[in-house]
Amino acid sequence: MTNNRKVFVLIGLMGAGKTSIGRKLAEHLNIGFVDADQEIVKAAGCSIPDIFEIYGEPAFRDVEERVIIRLLTKETGVLATGGGAYINPNIRDAITQHGYCIWLKASLDILVKRTAKRTGRPLLKPGEPREILRDLMDKRYPVYARADLTVETGAETVDQTLNAILDSLKQQTLMIGESKDE
Ligand code: S3P
Repeated sequence: MTNNRKVFVLIGLMGAGKTSIGRKLAEHLNIGFVDADQEIVKAAGCSIPDIFEIYGEPAFRDVEERVIIRLLTKETGVLATGGGAYINPNIRDAITQHGYCIWLKASLDILVKRTAKRTGRPLLKPGEPREILRDLMDKRYPVYARADLTVETGAETVDQTLNAILDSLKQQTLMIGESKDE
């Protein structure tokens, strides 16, 4: 990874496992981990459902852009983004400039199953989650496909997915930091 491309950025739809895989990747590489949605909550001083409800989605996207661009320019390590972040061209450009982008690509069944476990995702509220996720897949997967690396995630454990990422990174000689196993 070159000097200015210093952040591993995880992208993918809600339920793809960006936060759990991102945290594991950072732990393994012994580097920092930041979750963009948590930083947005800190910056806004309220929860994501509240931001959507009180201020609307465009306001959320504005905060998201500011927070992620700040994180990309200031931080090193692993950054998990919310599912819509990479769709914003300004965020995408900043990721291309400062980060190495990893798409966690999951099937509809997996996304439906995983998102059912947790509430707090305003985009899934207004209708049938499967239909909403299917529509988001159609719209977003062609954009996510621009990532530097695509890793398919299915029924594998977090560790198996982590190993798939590490293998690909090794092949591309992009490993940074000291791995705990070494
Ligand atoms: C969103 C995904 C959410 C969160 C917000 C919008 C999206 O994050 O940023 O609810 O547009 O897909 P996760 O992908 O972490 O659930």
